[in-house]
Amino acid sequence: MKMMLPIIIFMISCLLFSFSSSLSGRDFCVADFNSPFGPAGYSCKNPQMVNVEDFSSSGILNAPIIDNLLKTGESTAFVDKIPGLNGQRVSLARVDVQPGGVVPLHSHSDATEVLAVLQGSMIAGFISSNNTVYVKSIGPGGVIVFPRGLLHFQVNSGINLSVGIAAYSSPQPNIQIVDDALFKSNLSTLLISASTFINPIEVKRLKLLFRGSG
Ligand SMILES: *[C@@H]1O[C@H](CO)[C@@H](O)[C@H](O)[C@H]1NC(C)=O
Ligand SMILES: *[C@@H]1O[C@H](CO)[C@@H](O)[C@H](O)[C@H]1NC(C)=O
Ligand SMILES: *[C@@H]1O[C@H](CO)[C@@H](O)[C@H](O)[C@H]1NC(C)=O
Repeated sequence: MKMMLPIIIFMISCLLFSFSSSLSGRDFCVADFNSPFGPAGYSCKNPQMVNVEDFSSSGILNAPIIDNLLKTGESTAFVDKIPGLNGQRVSLARVDVQPGGVVPLHSHSDATEVLAVLQGSMIAGFISSNNTVYVKSIGPGGVIVFPRGLLHFQVNSGINLSVGIAAYSSPQPNIQIVDDALFKSNLSTLLISASTFINPIEVKRLKLLFRGSG
């Protein structure tokens, strides 16, 4: 019994710490950008220094600059730009995809995404971990959910620009793009070919396209 007491005290203090480090008990935890960005986000800025500018931004989701290769652009409203999103488990992005454009196969390990199409149409889909494919053409007013961590993509096969708004269940969703991981990186052509079964000549072509090396 004597041995149990320190363990119980330790467990209670762990619990108290986890409460005090979450949002509960305070209205918000606006990011203090002088603190490091950890798994729980930033530390909280002194509430007396907080104002409405920390929670808002004009024009942040204006039309983005469109990338030549992907014919796609993204404007983001993540915690790095809106400090009031710190600790809130939500953020937004706008994605514009030109005809023939693509948001290549990628995943967000820390966020579920809901994509709403406002204009034009996109063929969007994801692949589950047992390799079941879920694909649908989404028109204006339509939505699709990409469950957390699963590979997903969007393609504009129409003739008009398509515009969507994506919501993420993270204030700063991470993104891993399959093409970038393979062809923008310096992983050697030999190892990519060996680990993906893609012909080395094709790997070299894609490395040139995505400006990778190796
Ligand atoms: C994959 O998982 C889904 C949902 O759990 C299930 O309905 C489906 O039968 C599975 N498919 C295969 C090929 O195992
Ligand atoms: C493309 O946009 C034009 C102009 O807004 C519209 O008239 C046309 O119906 C659109 N086409 C498709 C396939 O959505
Ligand atoms: C690849 O890049 C990393 C840094 O990003 C570097 O540390 C590593 O040495 C590079 N590897 C090769 C094979 O060039």
